[in-house]
Parts: sequence; structure tokens; C-alpha cells
Amino acid sequence: MHDQTRHLLDIDRLTDQDIEVLIDRACALAAGAGAKRLKGSVAHLFFEPSTRTRVSFELAAGRVGLQPVNVEMAQASTTKGESLEDTVATLAAMGVNCMVLRHAEAGLHARLAATLPSGVHLVNAGEGSRAHPTQALLDAATLRARGVDLKGLRLAIVGDLRHSRVVASGLRLWPRLGVDDIRLAGPADLLPDADSAPDIIHCASLAEAVRGADVIMMLRIQHERMDQSGWPDPSAYHAEWGLRTEHLDLAARNCVVMHPGPINRGVEIAAEVADGNRSLILDQVRMGVFMRMAVFEWLFGALRAG
Ligand code: NCD
Repeated sequence: MHDQTRHLLDIDRLTDQDIEVLIDRACALAAGAGAKRLKGSVAHLFFEPSTRTRVSFELAAGRVGLQPVNVEMAQASTTKGESLEDTVATLAAMGVNCMVLRHAEAGLHARLAATLPSGVHLVNAGEGSRAHPTQALLDAATLRARGVDLKGLRLAIVGDLRHSRVVASGLRLWPRLGVDDIRLAGPADLLPDADSAPDIIHCASLAEAVRGADVIMMLRIQHERMDQSGWPDPSAYHAEWGLRTEHLDLAARNCVVMHPGPINRGVEIAAEVADGNRSLILDQVRMGVFMRMAVFEWLFGALRAG
């Protein structure tokens, strides 16, 4: 029989109904709905730095009753040459039935998921520049929870588009939610490959991208994914691509500003915008916990649909 174990590997593998269920559930939890009680344990395997994603997964696991297993990757057996496949199989043999994985290697998550025993779930918490599906989902839930109608929305995404897994997953998700006016802008060498975003409008400047935008999503320069020669000078970058108060006057009257974090104040975003009343940055962080609770509930079959 085909193994029905659910994983959350990327946006494309979710049905429209899954997406709706997850966003609705995260919004309901944010509005005070009680969490389901799940049985099991979850290991957080983070091979790249993380604050908000890791902590929100850990808090979410606790709130739905999953036992957290703390694997300190710097001291784990992978440093003794054990393959990640073997580490994951070892954890599964001990009864860990959910793995939350962040790793730089594109394709690793799907490969590992295929090796897991039935009943052991894998969640993608960041995969190189390729995917970060829970971030895209929580971004959508953040807007939904504010009552923003995604259909007909104008979305500007600005910054290091080429290396951003948040953008990669977002560009798979936003059109499925009815967002059909997406404008991308950033330095020429940080634009995505042409074939990764064929139908999307590329703008030559920040001002052009944000004009009339309902949502402006700013991105960090992903230094860790480029060699140092490609690092832009922070103040020159801010002058050309940093979101400042003056840009908000060009956007739609009720526009909101998003950023997946971590933010670099004075580089891609001015402090007064990050802290200003249009900013949803901390709403996104807060929704991150609820979305990850919804993800656990969905993986463990406690929500309808699929
Ligand atoms: C992002 C990531 O790690 O991909 N952060 C996050 O998960 N909130 C974006 C980034 O690191 O700039």
C-alpha cells in the first residue's frame, strides 16, 4: 500500500485544500482557538543558523503536546562522519516521529523523506535557496489574519531575490492564493533566474516596484550564499534599495511592510520603517508559532482535508 505519511516538503506538494486548511487553522489559533493534543516527539535538526524559525517550531511543538528532542547539531554524530540518513534513521528507531530540518542542500529534504519509515514526518524548515514553505504560509496567514484580501493585491518583493528561499516558496504560493500582480526589484546580480519567475514584472528601481503596492516585502542580502566579492556595500545598498519612509508615500494608502527576518536595519530597511505602524514584521514572527502548530496538527492528521 502507498505510504500515506504526510510531509511538508514544498508548496507544490500541497493541494489547494491543504493550503486553505493550514492558513485557516493558523488564523484560528491566532484568534484563540484551542490547540489539538498530539502524541509523539519531534527533533529539530538545524544545520544553518536560525532564531525565529527554530524557536517557533519548538514552541509550536510544545503547544500541541509533542515532546521536543533537542539535537545540538554542532555536537551530533554527523560531525563524526555519520550520514544524515543514518542520523534520521537512528532517531526514528528511537521513536521520534517528526523531524524538522533546515539544511543548505537543495533536494536533501525530499531524498530523506523517501527513506523515512512509515509514520515519521519530515518538515522543511529551510532548504538552501530552494524552499522555505512554512515561511510563505505564515506570510499569507499574517495577511489573512489582518483581513487583507489576497485577490487583486499588488505585492512588491525587493532585495536579494536570487538567493531567497522565502521568495522561491512565495512565488509558488502567492499566485495560488489569487495574488496576480507581483513586482520584483533588486540589484541586477541578485535577480532570480529568468525562468524561475517568468510571468512576473521586474522593476528597475525600488520606487517603481513599490508604486501602488498593497504589500511590500523586503529581503535580507543572503551573504552566506555568495562569495564575499559579491557583497554589496551596505550604505550604497541602502541608498538604492533600502526601504525608507519616503517610499511608503508612493505605495497604496494602507500598504503594509513585511520582512521574514532577520532584518538588517539601515541596509534593506530603515529602522523607522521596520518599527513603524505599517510594519508587520513582528506579526509575522507571532504568526510563525501558530502556522507551525497548524503544520504539526495537519501532519499528524488532526485537521481535515489532504
Ligand atoms: C529566512 C531564511 O532563513 O530563509 N529567515 C527566516 O526563516 N525567517 C530569511 C533570511 O535568512 O534572510
